[in-house]
Amino acid sequence: MLKPLRIGKVEARVPIIQGGMGARVSLHRLAGSVAREGGVGVISAVLLHDPGRNHPKDTCKGEKLKKPYNDAIPLREEIRKAREIAGSKGVVGVNILFAMSDFEDLLLTAFDEGVDLILTGAGFSREVFRLGKRFDVPIVSIISSAKGAKLAERSGAAAVVVEGTDAGGHLGTMESVWEILPSIVEAVSIPVIAAGGIFDGKDIARALKMGASGVQIATRFVVTEECDVHSNFKQAYLNSKKGDIVLVKSPVGMPGRAIKNRFVEEMASGKWRKPGCKYNCIKPCSGHADPYCIATALLRSASGDVETGLVFAGGNAWRLREITTVPRLMKELVEETERELSS
Ligand SMILES: Cc1cc2nc3c(=O)[nH]c(=O)nc-3n(C[C@H](O)[C@H](O)[C@H](O)COP(=O)(O)O)c2cc1C
Repeated sequence: MLKPLRIGKVEARVPIIQGGMGARVSLHRLAGSVAREGGVGVISAVLLHDPGRNHPKDTCKGEKLKKPYNDAIPLREEIRKAREIAGSKGVVGVNILFAMSDFEDLLLTAFDEGVDLILTGAGFSREVFRLGKRFDVPIVSIISSAKGAKLAERSGAAAVVVEGTDAGGHLGTMESVWEILPSIVEAVSIPVIAAGGIFDGKDIARALKMGASGVQIATRFVVTEECDVHSNFKQAYLNSKKGDIVLVKSPVGMPGRAIKNRFVEEMASGKWRKPGCKYNCIKPCSGHADPYCIATALLRSASGDVETGLVFAGGNAWRLREITTVPRLMKELVEETERELSS
C-alpha cells in the first residue's frame, strides 16, 4: 500500500499530484477527476478569461481586493465544478504563478472558495505565505534548487515540488529531477514532491525511494479523456516523436518546453511579435520587445490550433501512445509503483 501524501492539514490517499497546466489545459474536469481517484487535482488559474467573451469583472467576497478583476468569476466556477466531481474527500488545489498580474486577487478568490491547497511558482512572494496562514490553507512552492527549497521552508511552505528539466511549460533548471532531488530532500524537512519526466510506476517508486513523499505528473494527464484541453492538443502529444520536444524562449523570462511546430520554427524570425496586449497577464511582459504574446500563443493551442499555437509538453510526451481515462491511469500508476516497491 502506498503511503498517503500529507501536506500540512491536507491528506491525499494517493501520493500523486496532477500538475497545474496553464491556459485552460487543467481545469475542473481533469482536477476533479484526479481528486476523485484519491490524488491531488490541480486547476491552473492562468488565463481563465477570454477577452473575446468579455467576462464581467468581480472580486472575491472574503477579503477587500484592490480592484475587481477578470478571472474571479471563471476561477470560482472552476473550483466549484471541480469540487462537485471530486466529492467530499477529494483534494483540490489551485496553481497560481507569482508572475501573473492578478496573482494576489486570484489567491484570495481561491481562499474564498475554500480550496485545499495552493501551488505557486515562477517567482517568489512572502505575502502568499502570510495569506496562506491567515486562511489556513497550505502553500506548496514549486522550486528547482536546494536554495529555493530552503527559502520556501523558512517562509512557511508546507511542502515543495521540485521540478526538473523534463517538465512541460516554464523551466527553472536544466538539471533532471534525479540530479537535484537528493540535495533537496537533504536540505528541508517538509515533504518534497518530485516532478518533471515522471512517467510510470518505476519512476514514482524511484522518487519515493530517494526520499520524496509524492510526485507531480502533468504530461501523462494531458492524454486523458477528462483533460480539459482541445483534442487536437492531445493528438499533438500522440503524434510527437522523440526529437520534437524542444526548448523555447518565453516572455515570462524562463525557457519553456514545448512541441516543435510551425509556431516554434517561425518565432525566432520575429513573425509572431505581438501587435498589442489584450491580456495584461504577466508582470514581466515587455510588450513589443517580447518575441511573441504568450497568452495568445498558449490559448491558440488550447483551443485546437496546434500549428500556430504554443504546445507546452514534458520531455516524455513522445512516449505516449493512446488516450486513456483518469481512473485507468491512476490505477495503472499505483499498481506499477506498488509492484516496484515490493520487488
Ligand atoms: C501543458 C503544460 C502546461 C503547464 N503549465 C504550468 C503552469 O501553468 N504552472 C506550473 O506551475 N506548471 C505548469 N506546467 C508544469 C506541470 O505542472 C508539471 O510540474 C510538469 O509538467 C511535470 O512534468 P511532466 O509533465 O513530465 O509530468 C505545465 C506543464 C504542461 C505539460
